[in-house]
Amino acid sequence: MTSSSLLPTDPSVLFTTAGMQQFKDYYTGKADAFKDFGSLNTVSIQKSMRTSDIDEVGDESHLTFFEMLGNFSFGGYWKKEAIQYGYDFITKEMGLKIDYVTVFEGLASAGVPADEESERIWKAIDSDLEVRRASIQDNFWGPTGNEGPCGPTTEIYVNGVEIWNIVFNEFFYPGSRDELLSGTSLKKLEKLKTSGIDTGMGLERLAMVVQKKNNIFETDLFSSVINRLHSEISERDKRIIADHIRASIFLIHDGIRPSNKEQGYILRRLMRRVITLEELYNQKQIDISAYLAINDFLSIYSTVYSDIVEKIVADCWVAESNKFYKTLKIGLKELSKISHLDAASAFKLYESFGLPFEVIKEMGKEKAFGLSREEFEVERKRHQEISRAGAERKFGGHGMKEGDLTAENAEEMKKKTRLHTATHLVVASLEKVLGQKLVQAGSDINIERLRFDFAFSRKITPEEIKQAENIANEIVAKDLPVSFVEMDTDEAFRVGASGVFKHKYGSRVKVYSIGIEGDYFSRELCGGPHVTHTGEIGRIKIIKEESVSGGNRRIRAIIE
Ligand code: SER
Repeated sequence: MTSSSLLPTDPSVLFTTAGMQQFKDYYTGKADAFKDFGSLNTVSIQKSMRTSDIDEVGDESHLTFFEMLGNFSFGGYWKKEAIQYGYDFITKEMGLKIDYVTVFEGLASAGVPADEESERIWKAIDSDLEVRRASIQDNFWGPTGNEGPCGPTTEIYVNGVEIWNIVFNEFFYPGSRDELLSGTSLKKLEKLKTSGIDTGMGLERLAMVVQKKNNIFETDLFSSVINRLHSEISERDKRIIADHIRASIFLIHDGIRPSNKEQGYILRRLMRRVITLEELYNQKQIDISAYLAINDFLSIYSTVYSDIVEKIVADCWVAESNKFYKTLKIGLKELSKISHLDAASAFKLYESFGLPFEVIKEMGKEKAFGLSREEFEVERKRHQEISRAGAERKFGGHGMKEGDLTAENAEEMKKKTRLHTATHLVVASLEKVLGQKLVQAGSDINIERLRFDFAFSRKITPEEIKQAENIANEIVAKDLPVSFVEMDTDEAFRVGASGVFKHKYGSRVKVYSIGIEGDYFSRELCGGPHVTHTGEIGRIKIIKEESVSGGNRRIRAIIE
C-alpha cells in the first residue's frame, strides 16, 4: 500500500504516528480488506510523525518524522508466521544478528496472560535466542487516539536498539492508551472478532544497523546534509536542523502550512527552530543555508516521493522565514532582558515574537530552569480559549466599536479613549522609572479605570509608582500632541514602537506617538482611538499595583 498522508483521517490524533493507523477499520471489522485490496495481508512504507519525541531530537536516535516499514494481516496469518517473517528478514535478508527479543509478561488485572505462545515460537526457531519478558509499558501497543485495536507485542533488538515491533492486535479498547495504562479505568479490553498482525520497523534505524553506523544521522539518509553543515555547528544542532527540515518538507508536502493551530503549529515550531538557529549562527558568521539542506533532502526523496514540489517547499520556507525574522531579533533581545522565565512569560515571548519554546528554554539557560513544556502548553491552550471566548463576545455584543475600544455610547467612548491614552502614558512612565522596556501582557479598560499587565519579576515599590505617576502627569500638563502613522509592521518595530502581546499584527499597523517628532515620549503599535492632546486626559492616579499569575505585575489607574 502507498503511504497515506501525515494528516490522518482520524480527528483524535494530530498526525499519522504508525503504519497501522490507516488500517484501523480493517482490524475492527468496519472495513473489509479483501474487498478493498484483494488480500487479507499487505505491506506498507508509511510516512509517520511523532511529536512526543520532539525535545529528544539532537541525540543519537530520536526523530520527529520517519518512515515506517510494516507488514499487516487482518485475519490472514498470525503469530507463528509473523515471527518467522521477522526472523527471516532480519537474519537472512539483512544478514543481521539478533541480540535478543522481548515478549509481553502479561497483566493479570487486565485479564491478559503472559505471551508464552510467542516465547515458544521464538525458541522453536532458534533455541539459543534470548527471550526476555517485558511489561505493558514496553510490550503492549495502542490504542492510538481515543479508542482502537491494541494488543501485546514482541520486539526484536539488534545492536542494542529496538528494530522491529510485531503487534498482535487481539483486543479493542474503548479509551485512550493513557487511560488503559493508568489501571484506574473501568473500561474493559474487548476481544476482537478477528485477531490481526501489525508490525513496524523504522527505516532510519534499520539503515543504521545495516550500514553499520553509530547513529541514524550517519546513514545515507542524513549524511549529505550533516556533512554539508559547517564544522563549527554543534553536533546536536546539526541533527536538529536536519530532522526539522526533513520533517517540514514532508508536512508541507502533505498540505500543512505554518500556523498557530494544531498541525500548523507543529510545523511552525519546527521551521522556527531552524530559522532561529540560522540567526544565532549568523551572528557568529556561520551560514546554515537551510535551502541547501532542503535541496539535499529533495534529491534523496524525490526519487520515491516524486510528487514533492520543490518550489512549494521553498516558497513556504521563505515566507515563514520572512515573517518570523521581523520579530525574532526583537524577541531574542526581550528574552535576554527578562530575569526569570516561567510558563506565562515564555508564552508571552512566543505569542508576541513567535519565539519557539525550545529557543526560549535553551537561550534562557538558568533563567528558564523551572520552565517545562507541559506548563507552557497549558498556558498556550488557556490563551487559545480566552481569545476564542473574546471573539465570541466581540461578535455577540452591542454598542459602539472604534479601533481597540467598545462602548455603550459616545459618552463612554470618550471616557475610555482618555483612559486608553493614559494607559500609554503610564506604561511609558514606568519604563522610564524602571529603566527598561516593558513586555506588556494585555490591557483592559472599563468606564472606571485602566488596567494593564506586564512581565516583571518583583514588586514595583510605592516610590517607583509615585515617580511614574508624576512623570505621566507632567506629560498631561505639557499637553503634548498625540498622533499616528500607518507603517509596515517591521518598520514599526524598527523605529522602536512597543507592541502588546495580545495583538496579532497584520502587515501594516498604526503606530501611535505621544510627543513631538524626534522627541517622542511614547510610541506603541495600537489600533486607537486616542485623544489628540495629552491635556484632555486629566489627572492620572495609579490606584493599585499587584502581582498576577505567571510573574506578571498588574497596574490599575483612574483619571480625575
Ligand atoms: N504499531 C506498531 C508501532 O508503531 C507496530 O507497527 O510500533
